[in-house]
This record gives sequence, structure tokens and C-alpha cells, in this order.
Amino acid sequence: MQQLLDKIKAYSAQIEGAAVHSKEELEAFRIKYLGTKGLVKTIMSEMKDVATEQKKEAGQALNEFKNYVEQKFEKLKLFDGNQVKVKQEVDLSLPAPDMPIGSRHPISIVQNKIISIFNRLGFAVAQGPEIEDDWHNFTALNLPENHPARDMQDTFYLQESPAWLLRTHTSSVQIREMEKGVLPLRIICPGRVYRNETISARAHCFFNQVEGLYIAENVSFADLKQTLYFFVQEMFGQEVKIRFRPSYFPFTEPSAEMDISCLICGGSGCNVCKKTGWVEILGCGMVHPQVLENCNIDSEKYTGFAFGMGIERITMLKYQVKDLRLFSENDTRFLDQFIAAI
Ligand code: DAH
Repeated sequence: MQQLLDKIKAYSAQIEGAAVHSKEELEAFRIKYLGTKGLVKTIMSEMKDVATEQKKEAGQALNEFKNYVEQKFEKLKLFDGNQVKVKQEVDLSLPAPDMPIGSRHPISIVQNKIISIFNRLGFAVAQGPEIEDDWHNFTALNLPENHPARDMQDTFYLQESPAWLLRTHTSSVQIREMEKGVLPLRIICPGRVYRNETISARAHCFFNQVEGLYIAENVSFADLKQTLYFFVQEMFGQEVKIRFRPSYFPFTEPSAEMDISCLICGGSGCNVCKKTGWVEILGCGMVHPQVLENCNIDSEKYTGFAFGMGIERITMLKYQVKDLRLFSENDTRFLDQFIAAI
């Protein structure tokens, strides 16, 4: 009996100091002490050798020992076990992995910049639908029935009669805004437009434009020039020059196209400007009186200017992008280059 009690004491001391560092060690502890051939079972079997009058005392000591071992096991499971688990999953001393930074699309960057420049001149942003009717996309803009721009080649028609189409330019938003009849009107209209064109480095079947419109009393071509000059200098830098060439658009009279001095060669002539020193960036003009009348605006009292530019074109010039298709391919090697540009 004394022998048995001594054993229990010795084992208890041994178990007291036991520690585990992994799931495997925890399992080894369980097998060693609590398994079917474990120490607790073995020592219990020694009860049969104890004299009858000592059985009660021995039984108590053995039960206490068994409880003690089981409690120790639970402790090891809770404390050491969890610690081991946490250690395996997260090492708090490691440097954190790099967080990939997203970037704005170059078209969005330039569009936002255009908006902010014109905002400073008092232009508000207006938007219109991408699915348009014939009136807003063509007729009200003074595009006669047989105008080449109405050709099926250029326009995606969703339905022939009555015509529903994907707008071919953001000039349709001009009409929608003028029809609201709130004057004076000073807006820019950014948005996506569609044309039935073969996709190449220089053309796409969808792209983005910004339309500008200013209608008030006594608006002149000088206002148009000064507004666009301010825009160009803010967008491309103070040293950039502009020039206007007479042109034709059905919705403006007179009409012009505006060039800027080539950003690549500074005007001395290179491949980008085709050796001319100038690159075209937009169309513009004084709103045709017929267009004003189409929107119930008194063309005797009001005048206005309008302009329209392709955002892709401005972006290509600003960041020297040579292929228009890059803008719609979502290649992150291309897009990542604009992280710093925001
Ligand atoms: N809508 C024309 C286009 O898509 C661009 C344009 C030219 C807009 C002259 C205008 C303008 O407002 O006055 O090619």
C-alpha cells in the first residue's frame, strides 16, 4: 500500500512538470497517461494487490490521481494546445505581405482632370443616356437626313423605326440640356459614345468624349478661345500653344478645329505630329442658330459656343500612349503604370 502511494506521488510530480509543444506531444501525453495501456490504467490494476482494509484509502488516492491526470490533460489541451495552434498560423514577428494598390484607369484620371478644370470656370457636369433617339443625336443638331454621319456604317442602330441608336457623340446631351430651358447654361458632358468602326490602334467602336456648352447673352468666339486656351494650359502646361483652323460641323457656325503644339517635339516636327508641329485635339464653334431654335431658345437674344473632344486622344497625348486598344484591354501591366498619376 505504501508502495502504491509512493508511486502515485512520484508520478504526480512527473506529470506536474509536463509540457507539450505540439499536437503530437499532446497526443503522446494522452497515450502515455490516459490511454488504454496508459499509466492510470496500469496503476489502477494494482488495486487488486492491496489488502482489503486498505482498499478504501487506496481507491481514494487512485481516483484523485486519475482526476489530477485528466485535469492536467485538459489544461495542456487548452493552454499549450492553443498556443501551438496560434504559433503555426500567424507569426506576428514576420513583416506583413505587400498590399497591392489599385489604380484609377487613365481615362478616369484624365476625365476627372478635365471636369475639375472646367469646374473652376463655372461649368457643371451634365449627363445623358447612351441609348438615344434620332432627334437628340442627329436632327436637333442640324444633321440633315442624308448626312454621311447618319450612314449605317458609323452608327449602331438598335431599332430602325422609330430609330433607337447608341449615341455617336455627346453632343446629344447639349440638346437635352438646352431643352430644359434653364439659361444661362454652362455645362460639360463627359460620357461614352459608340461608332461602327474597325478597331485599330487609332480607332475603336466605343470611346469617351467630353462635350462643352455655354449659352448666355453676348457669348462670343473670343470667349470660346479663351476658355479652351485656359483648359489646354491647365491640362498640358503653360508653354503649350494653340491654333484654330476653320472647319465644318452642322451644329456650329462658324466651326473650327483646335490644334495644340506637339508635346513630343515642342513644335519642331516629329512622327506624332506628322512633321507639322501641331496635333488636333477638338472640334468647336458657335452654336448654330437653328440648333438653338430647335430647343426653343431665342437665337436673337442668346448665343453660345460648344466644343467636343475625345478623352482617349487627350490621354494618349498626355501620357504618350500609342495604341487606343490598351484602354479597353484591362492589362494590369499597363494600368499599374498610372498608380502614381492620380
Ligand atoms: N460631336 C463632334 C464629334 O463627335 C465633336 C464636336 C465638334 C462637338 C464641334 C461640338 C462641336 O460641340 O462644336 O466629332
